[in-house]
Amino acid sequence: MGGDEQFESASLLLSDDGSRKTRRRSTLLCFIFLAFSATTIAFFSVRGHYVDLRFLGASDDHKHPIRNNDVVVSEAAVVAADDGRCSEIGVSMLEKGGHAVDAAVATALCLGVVGPMSSGIGGGAFMLVRSSSAPGALAIDMRETAPAAASENMYESNVEAKVLGALAMGTPGEIAGLHAAWLSYGRLPWKALFEPAIKLARDGFVVSPCLGEKIAGQEEKIMADPGLTRVFAPNATLLKYGDTCYNVELGNTLQAIAEEGPGALYNGSIGERLIEDVREAGGILTMEDLRNYRARVTAAVEADALGYKILGMPPPSSGTVGLALVLNIFESYGNRDAAQGPLGLHRLIEALKHMFAIRMNLGDPEFVDISRTVTDMLSPSFAKMIRERIFDNTTFPPEYYLPRWRQLRDEGTSHLCVVDSERNAVSMTTTVNYAFGGGVMSPSTGIILNNEMDDFSIPSEVSPDELPPAPANFIRPNKRPLSSMTPIVVLKENQLVGVLGGSGGMDIIPAVTQVLLNHFILDMEPLAAVESPRIYHKLIPNIVSYENWTVINGQHIELSEERKHFLRERGHQLQAKAGGAVCQLVVQNITKPSDLGRKLKNNRGYNGILTGVSDPRKGGWPAAV
Ligand SMILES: *[C@@H]1O[C@H](CO)[C@@H](O)[C@H](O)[C@H]1NC(C)=O
Ligand SMILES: *[C@@H]1O[C@H](CO)[C@@H](O)[C@H](O)[C@H]1NC(C)=O
Ligand SMILES: *[C@@H]1O[C@H](CO)[C@@H](O)[C@H](O)[C@H]1NC(C)=O
Ligand SMILES: *[C@@H]1O[C@H](CO)[C@@H](O)[C@H](O)[C@H]1NC(C)=O
Ligand SMILES: *[C@@H]1O[C@H](CO)[C@@H](O)[C@H](O)[C@H]1NC(C)=O
Repeated sequence: MGGDEQFESASLLLSDDGSRKTRRRSTLLCFIFLAFSATTIAFFSVRGHYVDLRFLGASDDHKHPIRNNDVVVSEAAVVAADDGRCSEIGVSMLEKGGHAVDAAVATALCLGVVGPMSSGIGGGAFMLVRSSSAPGALAIDMRETAPAAASENMYESNVEAKVLGALAMGTPGEIAGLHAAWLSYGRLPWKALFEPAIKLARDGFVVSPCLGEKIAGQEEKIMADPGLTRVFAPNATLLKYGDTCYNVELGNTLQAIAEEGPGALYNGSIGERLIEDVREAGGILTMEDLRNYRARVTAAVEADALGYKILGMPPPSSGTVGLALVLNIFESYGNRDAAQGPLGLHRLIEALKHMFAIRMNLGDPEFVDISRTVTDMLSPSFAKMIRERIFDNTTFPPEYYLPRWRQLRDEGTSHLCVVDSERNAVSMTTTVNYAFGGGVMSPSTGIILNNEMDDFSIPSEVSPDELPPAPANFIRPNKRPLSSMTPIVVLKENQLVGVLGGSGGMDIIPAVTQVLLNHFILDMEPLAAVESPRIYHKLIPNIVSYENWTVINGQHIELSEERKHFLRERGHQLQAKAGGAVCQLVVQNITKPSDLGRKLKNNRGYNGILTGVSDPRKGGWPAAV
C-alpha cells in the first residue's frame, strides 16, 4: 500500500447540478411497524422491550428528541441514527425516492445541527456505501487533514493546544465527502438534502437529553468561547434538555452550501469567513488548505471471517483491520462456540489486548508504509499465531502483548446506518472528536471546529502508557490521523445482512466487535445484541472496564455477576464504567423474504425483512419507510 496511485481523489468542486437528478416518487406501500398516538400515555411492548410513551411529543415530531422505541422492523427501508429526528429526516428522503446516500447525507447534516457535540460540517467522517448493483463497497474517507502549516513538533511548547482551541483543528472533510458520495449515487437534488437541517438550525430544535448532558458537562468549554456561548447559553444560562436551541449562522451556512455547492465552503465566501474566525482564534488553517482538500474514494477493505464478509474502511481507520483480526482469532478456534459465554468474553478481552498493541503500527497509508501490518491484521495464519498466545485460564500484564507504541485515545462521534428499498446501504461514522471539538465555534458561520489533530501522535506527549509515541501516526502536512472509527457492512453469500458502527473513540472497536458477535455468531436478536452489557479495555492500564450505568431511557445496563466472577478468577482487574460506546445496527434477514422485495425493480433475487436498532445508550430511535 502507501502509493498515491492507491487513491483516486473525488473532485468536490464540481458545480451543483441538482436538476439532473430526477425525483422518482416511490410507490412503495409504507410498512409502519407501530403507529403511535401522540397523546397516549401507555406502556407498550416492542418485542419484549418496554417502551414508555409518556415522552411522546406533538405532531411536529422533528422537534421532539425523545421517543423510546429503539427498534423498527420494515420490509422497505430503515435509517438508524443516534438522534431519532435525524433517522426520520433520512426516511423522508427515502420516501421522496432518494438513494441510501441521499438519506445518509440528510441524516448526517441533521446530526450536525441537533447533535453538535458529536459531529458537524466542521469535522470529518468515514462513509461506506454498498450498492446493491455492484460487488464490494466504496469507502469514502472524508477525514480531516493536517493543515499545510502543521508540523511534527507544533505542539511541543503547548501540548494543550492539540486538544483545545483553533490550533487543534484539521481541515474539515465532511461536506466534501458527502458531496463526493452524492455525485456518485444521489438521486435527489443536493439542495433538498439540506432543507430539514437548515430548518432545524434556523427555527430552533429541542435540546435532547444527550445534548443537555454534554452542555452541562462542558460548561467551562462553552462559557470560554463566545460562539459556543451564543448558541448554547444564549441568555447567560446554559441550555438544558427541553430548551429550544438556535444556530441561525449555521442555518445560513448550510443554505449557502445547499445553493452554491461545496465550493461555498471550500472555495468561497463561507470558507473565507471561517478562515478569518479560525485565524482570529489562533488557528493556522488557510484557504489553500480548504481548496486542496479532497475526499479519498477507494474500494472498501474486505475481510472474511466466521462465515461472513466484512466490508470496512482502509487505514487511517484502524477499526476494520482491528475487527478483522479479532474475528480471525475467533475463527482460528475452529468452533463457532468459541465466543460463547464468559469464556468467550475472556477470549475477546485477550484478543482485543493483542489487537490494540498491533494497531498502533498503523497510520495514513499515503505517508507511511503500513502494508505489513495491514496484511498481518487481515491474515488468518497471523491470527492463529496470536490465538496460541491466548490462554483460557489467565490474562497477562500489558508487556505480554508486545505493545511498542502509546495508544491512540480518541473520543466523541456519531454513527448512522441506512438501508434503502433496493438494499443499497450506507454505514457512516462522523465526528468532531471531543465533545464540541476544540471548544471553538466560528461566530460568523456557526461551525464548530474539530480537534482532530489530537488523533495524531506527537513526540512530546505525556501518556499513561510509558511507551514511545507511534511514529507512523506523527503529524505531516496534509496527512490524516489514525482513527478508531469502524463503520462496516456485513455480507453473507454476497447478500447484505448487516450495517453497523458506533461512536465512542477507542471503545468503538470493542463495541462493534461485541455487537457483531452477539447477533451474527451468538444469535441474539438485533435489539438484544446492541443492548447487551459490554466490556472495554485500553491495554494500559491493565483494567477491564465493564458497563454499569443507567442510560438515558432509564434502562440499567450492567455486566452479570457471573461474568465478573469468571473474569476475576482469570486475574482480570475489573472496574465499573458509567459510559461507553453507542452502536447503531440494521440487519436484513435473508431467510425471511418480503413480498414487497420481489416486486421491486433493480432487485437481484429478493429483499429480506429489515430490523433497525438505535442504541438506547444515547436516546436515539430508528425510523422506517
Ligand atoms: C432568552 O431571552 C430572550 C429575550 O429575553 C427570550 O425571548 C428567550 O426565550 C430566552 N431564551 C431562553 C432559552 O431562556
Ligand atoms: C475557486 O474559485 C475560483 C473562482 O472564484 C476558480 O477560478 C477556481 O478554479 C476555484 N478553485 C478550485 C480549486 O476549484
Ligand atoms: C494455564 O494453563 C496452562 C496450560 O494450558 C498452564 O501451563 C498454566 O500454568 C496455567 N496458568 C494458570 C495461571 O493457571
Ligand atoms: C453500579 O451502578 C449503580 C448505580 O447505577 C451503583 O449504585 C452501584 O454501586 C454500581 N456498582 C458498582 C459495582 O460500581
Ligand atoms: C430470520 O427469520 C426467520 C423466520 O422468522 C427466523 O427463524 C430466523 O431466526 C431469522 N434469522 C435471523 C438471522 O434473525
